[in-house]
Amino acid sequence: MKNKRAFRRVFSLILLLLLPSFSFADVALDGETIFKKRCAGCHGVDGTSPAYGISRKLAEMTKSEMTEKLSSYTSKEILNSKGVTAVMGKQTAALSKKEYEEVLKYISSFAVK
Ligand code: HEC
Repeated sequence: MKNKRAFRRVFSLILLLLLPSFSFADVALDGETIFKKRCAGCHGVDGTSPAYGISRKLAEMTKSEMTEKLSSYTSKEILNSKGVTAVMGKQTAALSKKEYEEVLKYISSFAVK
């Protein structure tokens, strides 16, 4: 009985030690990977496609325009809105804070100066 408890304790300790290395937070996704996976389908790999034929081409925006626009999509109003703008609300909502920062950094790399 005592052994079993000790085993369980050691086992949970091992699990605890192993967990962080498997958590998603540790899967460091870089901005480029995120962009290619989650944004390029609509915006083009190099940011030159107008998404749904209506968005601006990311590659023709300045860094501050992108930063401003992207952060506007994180608002509740956008997320709850209907229509095409809600599309971007869903995109930004799906990103963790870190992913958001990384992808913003990446799209800034093809922004007009
Ligand atoms: C399903 C298609 C789709 C995906 C995927 C998508 N977008 Fe968009 N994006 C749009 C549409 C549509 C708009 C225009 C929405 C609006 O403002 O009305 C837009 C607008 C934008 C804008 C502002 C452009 C402008 O016209 O001012 C930025 C910046 C942007 N998206 C970045 C991203 C990033 C970064 C990702 C990936 C995390 C992403 N988008 C994924 C469809 C998409």
